[in-house]
Amino acid sequence: MIDEIKKVEEEIRIFIENLHTKEDLEKFRNIFLVKKGKIQQLFDRMRDLPKEEKPIVGKFLNELRNYAETRFKELSESIAERETKVPKIDLTLPGRIDYIGHRHPIYQTMDRMVEVFVSLGFKVAEGPDIEDGYHNFDALNFPPDHPARDMQDTFFIKSDKNLLLRTHTSPVQIRIMHATKPPIRYIMPGRVYRNEAISARSLAEFHQIEGLYINHKVTFAELKGTMIEFSRRMFGENLRFRFRPSFFPFTEPSAELDITCFLCQGKGCRVCKYTGWLEIAGCGMVHPNVLKAGGIDPEEYTGYAFGLGIERVAMLLTGIDDIRTFYANDVRVLSQF
Ligand code: PHE
Repeated sequence: MIDEIKKVEEEIRIFIENLHTKEDLEKFRNIFLVKKGKIQQLFDRMRDLPKEEKPIVGKFLNELRNYAETRFKELSESIAERETKVPKIDLTLPGRIDYIGHRHPIYQTMDRMVEVFVSLGFKVAEGPDIEDGYHNFDALNFPPDHPARDMQDTFFIKSDKNLLLRTHTSPVQIRIMHATKPPIRYIMPGRVYRNEAISARSLAEFHQIEGLYINHKVTFAELKGTMIEFSRRMFGENLRFRFRPSFFPFTEPSAELDITCFLCQGKGCRVCKYTGWLEIAGCGMVHPNVLKAGGIDPEEYTGYAFGLGIERVAMLLTGIDDIRTFYANDVRVLSQF
């Protein structure tokens, strides 16, 4: 009887060596572990043994059953683990393409504009999106009752009436003046916020590049030259310019720069409001009060400043004629640029 137990043990050992799948496992159970399996059959035969042999055979049989059951448990666990880890691969499926992301067209435009100004000798600085009334308005010579401060245009921070989302990048001018001494030649790109009606031409959140040059005897001619040279490098040679007199509290004199709308080649479209011209920048000579607020003596220094809208330029470069398209985030559109 002991010999037979040894035989079954050997059988189990060999079976286990070749046991790899759930199906093998099930076979193993059916052959050895079930009620009519080989181990139980051996137990059944103990009835016919003489009394003295029963304890010894019983001991061997119990060991055999423990061995078979333990191995069975271990193997079911390792097979189950393996099967959950190895993903089932369907080799007939078509391959997946990994799409590579890229800069948003607004930021590509901003990068390009920054590059052109850097090539003209400007350094780059940034300021915070959340500003205070001092930097956004007071230091920029806005009178206390100026309509731009109105709730209509400015998003104020609810819990602190002195904090707001900057309405332009001009407050960074003040921050630069406080941080450095002339000569100052900086551009300041960033996001700005205005409570405006949303249309094909304007959004409540957009981007600007501010420019500031302060030195001895800076003139309006230098401002014009810089704006024109920037536009040529940015858009090409065949461009017409128009400086229109304008007003900003922080510049005097002030102007607005228009360039030919080349979405329609000046013929008139909805982007240029059918004028053939696109307003791309506000600019002017830095107001003496602003220099003073920045700690710079207006008797000794003069300067110019400008603020360019980035979305407008991106529309020109991409041919997208509705500003909302940039922020709809439709990958089919964005992936084209
Ligand atoms: N800050 C002005 C605006 O947002 C633009 C500007 C900047 C005008 C610098 C003059 C000088 O409209």
